[in-house]
Amino acid sequence: MIGPQTKLYAIIGKPIKHSLSPKLHNAMFEKYGIDAVYLAFEVNNIKQAVEGVKGLGIKGLNVTLPFKNEVIKFLDSIESQAKIIGSINTIKNSNGTLLGYNTDYLGFFETIKDIDCNKSICILGSGGASAACIYAFYKKGVKSLNIYNRTFANAFKLKEQFGDLITLNLIEKKDIYKNEIIVNTTSAGILGSEDIIDLNLLNKNSLLIDIVYKSELIKKAAAVGINGIDGTKMFIYQAYHAFKIWTDIEFDINHAFEVINGPS
Ligand code: ATR
Repeated sequence: MIGPQTKLYAIIGKPIKHSLSPKLHNAMFEKYGIDAVYLAFEVNNIKQAVEGVKGLGIKGLNVTLPFKNEVIKFLDSIESQAKIIGSINTIKNSNGTLLGYNTDYLGFFETIKDIDCNKSICILGSGGASAACIYAFYKKGVKSLNIYNRTFANAFKLKEQFGDLITLNLIEKKDIYKNEIIVNTTSAGILGSEDIIDLNLLNKNSLLIDIVYKSELIKKAAAVGINGIDGTKMFIYQAYHAFKIWTDIEFDINHAFEVINGPS
């Protein structure tokens, strides 16, 4: 029962209404008997939102687009991997000190763990999610990636940022289709834009990964015979690591899949 001792966790972003994070984290609080609730807030002003976290003693936050980069400047300390990625998706409020982490890359790492990455790989997009995926490929031992982004300058920034770790080749849109693995990290689908690639131009042997859970793009790819992986696993594992940071509990992954794939 919610009472005066109940702790608050939340996700902030814009848009936020399709987030599955409240469903998953609340199910886990219940499963492990933790007196806490998890809510979603659509936020316009990130600075005010972070001040609110301190002011209200909110215990932990997930941060989603478009704030994953911008939020960093309002935090007290950033974990070293998140610093390299330049983007955070998880905050822990430790007695008024806000610590930032990136668990997206751990979620994506889990997605590619059993995939042969000794292939040509193209990343679409150059935001915070893209940076997390690039870092996961680096951790997997990949030496070079192709990257396409609508705004060249943003892709170029990533190339410079990761220059010491992994080679990023900036490619033109028409060259996306030459790759064996294509990873969509853009927010185009979430923001309701047109698909960012033409599925008819993809090689039937290619693998399409979309980091969005329950991705429409992956459903459309399946319909034209292209092998795809959506972001469900990435979502569950980023949540697993966030939950561990907040509570020290390693939640039951199978239960998490049941919660997410179960009735809404
Ligand atoms: P996130 O933290 O989820 O990565 P982000 O930092 O806002 O979110 O980055 C979103 C990415 O999706 C960017 O690479 C953006 O391209 P720009 O750098 O050109 O802005 C890309 N993106 C968003 N909408 C898009 C669209 N309709 N077509 C192509 N790319 C899009």
